[in-house]
Amino acid sequence: MTTDSTPESDPFAEFDAAAGIGAVRDPYPVWAELRAQTPVHAGSLAERFGVASVEDALLTQTPYTPLTYAAVQQILRDGETFSSAGYANTIGLVFGHSILEMDEPEHHAYRALIQQAFTRKAMETWEAEIVRPVVERHVAEFRDRGSADLVRELLFPFPVTVIAEMIGLPTEDLPAFHKKAVELISIASNIETGLNASAWLYDYFQGIITERRAAPRHDLISVLAQAELDGQRLTDDEIIAFLRLLLPAGAETTYRSSSNLMIGLLSNPDQLAALRDDRSLMPQAIEEGIRWDPPLTSIGRTCTRDTVVEGVLIPAGSPVHVCMAAANRDPARWDRPDEFDLHRDPKQHMAFAFGPHMCLGMHLARMETAVAVNAVLDLPGLALDPTAEDVHVSGLAFRAPAALPVVFG
Ligand code: HEM
Repeated sequence: MTTDSTPESDPFAEFDAAAGIGAVRDPYPVWAELRAQTPVHAGSLAERFGVASVEDALLTQTPYTPLTYAAVQQILRDGETFSSAGYANTIGLVFGHSILEMDEPEHHAYRALIQQAFTRKAMETWEAEIVRPVVERHVAEFRDRGSADLVRELLFPFPVTVIAEMIGLPTEDLPAFHKKAVELISIASNIETGLNASAWLYDYFQGIITERRAAPRHDLISVLAQAELDGQRLTDDEIIAFLRLLLPAGAETTYRSSSNLMIGLLSNPDQLAALRDDRSLMPQAIEEGIRWDPPLTSIGRTCTRDTVVEGVLIPAGSPVHVCMAAANRDPARWDRPDEFDLHRDPKQHMAFAFGPHMCLGMHLARMETAVAVNAVLDLPGLALDPTAEDVHVSGLAFRAPAALPVVFG
């Protein structure tokens, strides 16, 4: 396989720059200040964060940003009033007509078909046959060295490898697939690159779908090609839109959330020790990590009729930037919301969204994170590298640490 990549372009660095990684270190104080004034902020926030927003520049109506838990929950639970169709004009340009931009009843019918690939049985098989071996392979590369950058050497590459194996892609295609998928979601900064990547992925996936329709295997593409509900099947276009979405939805998020969780643990050594010694705390540690610093801070909706949310009128037609990260630190719901504390009583948070579009891959994300974090905790004496300076999470739309240097052994 060949790619049209130029050696000097680094889509990962470009994407991080477009996502505000490095530029915005800690958006939480701004959200907290605004939330103390109003549950739903009217107006663009790009200026407050000193980032240029291409999307905001194109808006013809004032955007609204819900910041409290109650406001975010009310909006996400009501897909009829707060439509997802606006994605068609942004990320839909490169994904195609994906589940993300569908409203009811189309969304429900499509989701029921896709869900057939995400059964409990599939999860067990993926854990044993894909996730564990992939994680072990990565950890084996650095286990005897006594030091590693957990982001570069494990948490960034492993979820992409898992998704590619789940889909059933040939191993040698992985680097090109990963690069194209990152270029795809860089449309906000480079529309031409995004559209080219979209066309490239269309041809690439269509070839594989044709092969799997003729000779099915035990992979996701084969399951999607055969999924049926009330006599309805998925077309090639529908399968391709889903596959284009999967890598950004499934791999980018899991890499970032598992990295943020590891930062929470490594910067709180008492909690790291508690989890290392009692692995039954793992589910609540994962939920706390993703509450405390979710990988994706906001999602988009459009208000379809004049609606009052927590006392604020959102006029029909307004774009809504639903800020799950701000909701997850609402002091009305959590004590000491800015602190990472895995001993909290687990409560519903908004990191996986809520309502009809609630994340389809959340059980997979949790399972993958548990496998990776368990493997890391097995490294004896694991700690942040004491010579490393200022290891931290950053980013506005997407959040993650740039590196996670650790020592052990
Ligand atoms: C920690 C990791 C993850 C986080 C924080 C996350 C977060 C989210 C959020 C916030 C949404 C709602 C998007 C919207 O409505 O605008 C969503 C939807 C979705 N996620 Fe995830 N996700 C994660 C992992 C995954 C994984 C591993 C998969 C792989 C299958 C996945 C697949 C999807 C899909 C297909 C949707 C669309 C569902 C729909 O529109 O009905 N996600 N996710």
